[in-house]
Amino acid sequence: MEKTRASSPPAIRAVLFDAYGTLFDVYSVNLAAEQLFPGHGQALGLLWRDKQIEYTRLVTTCDHGAHYQPFWALTRSALVYAIKKIVISARNDWVAAGFDAKVEQLMNQYRHLSAFPENREVLQALKARGLVTGILSNGDPSMLAVAVKSAGLEGLLDHVISVDAIRKYKTHPDAYALGPQATGLAARQIAFVSCNSWDALAATWYGYQTLWVNRYQLPFEELGTPPSYSGSSLRDVLALPGLAPLPGASA
Ligand code: LAC
Repeated sequence: MEKTRASSPPAIRAVLFDAYGTLFDVYSVNLAAEQLFPGHGQALGLLWRDKQIEYTRLVTTCDHGAHYQPFWALTRSALVYAIKKIVISARNDWVAAGFDAKVEQLMNQYRHLSAFPENREVLQALKARGLVTGILSNGDPSMLAVAVKSAGLEGLLDHVISVDAIRKYKTHPDAYALGPQATGLAARQIAFVSCNSWDALAATWYGYQTLWVNRYQLPFEELGTPPSYSGSSLRDVLALPGLAPLPGASA
């Protein structure tokens, strides 16, 4: 793990994880997309994700949030857009056979995204060290509940925090403020972990200690602020320097 900050931060008492892309593999849908739309699976998966995030920003920043829709609805709209752009316009044909059924099939895949394999052991180790654990996600509560249950992470998370409560998506600061509010800790006492570089950057700006898990060997955002730490697997959370067990923890 690489450290990118010189100053000594306070002890970490809680670890909050981003969900989609960090605990759950948003690109695990690509295989199903390839089966439904041969030759387009990877491009569809990438555009679906990018458009989904773009829509969260649109509805958060425009018109004082008047156009807010839950993440599940935005995810469906992003999928429809991606299919129209990549598949249908490639065929130069605006009628796709079984369009609605294919959208439903892919949304069902999204509901049950694969979880990254190291999730459970990392959460178990954090609990054993007496740390507070949680998710802080754009996902709406019902999506998160299904994903957490499917991944067998129930019981390992003290908080499952959805921005839906405030109808503003990350990277709005009110979304990051939900972490300190839920835990009763200062942002600097919380490690926020994300594989999404924009999320790690915004959380750093908010004041969290951050770990950017760079699963895909990508460059970090070029906006002048590094994450507090960067790594390549969720296991790197366990090596964060400020990660102290609370007195009486069973570690
Ligand atoms: C989330 C998205 C941004 O889970 O990945 O918040």
